[in-house]
Amino acid sequence: AQKPNSPVLSKYGGRFTVTMIPGDGIGPELMGYVQEIFRYAGVPVNFEVIPLDFNHIEESHFKNAVIAIKRNGVAIKGSIESKYGEHADAVSRNVSLRTELDLFANVLHCKSYPSVRSRYKDIDIIIIRQNTEGEYSMLEHENVTGVVESMKIITRKASERLARYAFEYAKKHNRSKITCIHKANIMKIGDGLFLSSCREVSKDYPDIKFEDMIVDNTCMQLVARPQQFDVMLTPNLYGTVISNVICGLVGGAGLLSGRNYGDKFAVFEPGTRNTGTAIAGRNIANPVAMLNASCDLLEHLELENHANLIRSAIEQTLNEDQIQTSDIGGQSTSIDFVQNPSHRYGFFVQV
Ligand code: NAI
Repeated sequence: AQKPNSPVLSKYGGRFTVTMIPGDGIGPELMGYVQEIFRYAGVPVNFEVIPLDFNHIEESHFKNAVIAIKRNGVAIKGSIESKYGEHADAVSRNVSLRTELDLFANVLHCKSYPSVRSRYKDIDIIIIRQNTEGEYSMLEHENVTGVVESMKIITRKASERLARYAFEYAKKHNRSKITCIHKANIMKIGDGLFLSSCREVSKDYPDIKFEDMIVDNTCMQLVARPQQFDVMLTPNLYGTVISNVICGLVGGAGLLSGRNYGDKFAVFEPGTRNTGTAIAGRNIANPVAMLNASCDLLEHLELENHANLIRSAIEQTLNEDQIQTSDIGGQSTSIDFVQNPSHRYGFFVQV
């Protein structure tokens, strides 16, 4: 069997082929920057661009995207609009994609940028979130008018698999503590199983401290004293809430990337996964989160030199040259950022 995260990749003539799903909102413009920067940095990657968005939402579009990712092994993705309220879609294509590809782990490294104005300067937290079950099982029905049942699925198998992944991750990255987040005081059986599965796995890792915390207290602790957390291990829905709280503390939706891993495939995207539809096409979206996702992708392809080149350009542009978009308090545009002419490695893109 494949080791988790060992890339199954398509590579011909020294170049990788990677699926690109621009999605909705700001996704397409951000993907344009990634393509230009890769070209400029001489990255040996060809993109296979697949439309899967609000206007390409049929089963056939979805199947094409799945087949492309299975063929290439890896993808970079924007978010697909998922309507709610009166015009609700039956399913979220974002969620179906993760389930179909068995991308069981979502990993977010939440680290403060020294130059970005934010409440704390010293956040360094890894969130490892269950990515395929829990409240995202999309099993809802209204048997009797006015009474809805919404199923949250927690399995021992998926919980143990995620916990094992988290402890291995912590060991590999020299992290010393894992906090399991849950609501087992109310969902005693479901969240209880998640917690007991994680605790069971923790026994195999005596060098890593294991703690647990109820999700509501966690949100309060995060806002008041986030430095106490090292690695957070969470079920699906609490994971997205916590990710958004921490992204907010670090500087908002425009900075951090998120990684989705299964045993065979990997998908890279901005950490908070929203579409940013209201700011699309206005040259104000922060490109950093998607550029960080593109660097995660390069690391996955073991193209470390290219990843380092682009990461150092991001850091210099943000921290030294202080070219910052308005979401983090700056006055620069998206294009000012990606065309920063002063970067010594030529982080300069003709858009
Ligand atoms: P949103 O798209 O309105 O974004 C939230 C806030 O962050 C907005 O103020 C937006 O302007 C800002 N923002 C996001 N990216 C930014 C960037 N790069 N630069 C500067 N500002 C940025 O979020 P909302 O309303 O939560 O979601 C909109 C859509 O995204 C919905 O269709 C929803 O289903 C989808 N979504 C998808 C998720 C997924 O798992 N893929 C998760 C969350 C939302």
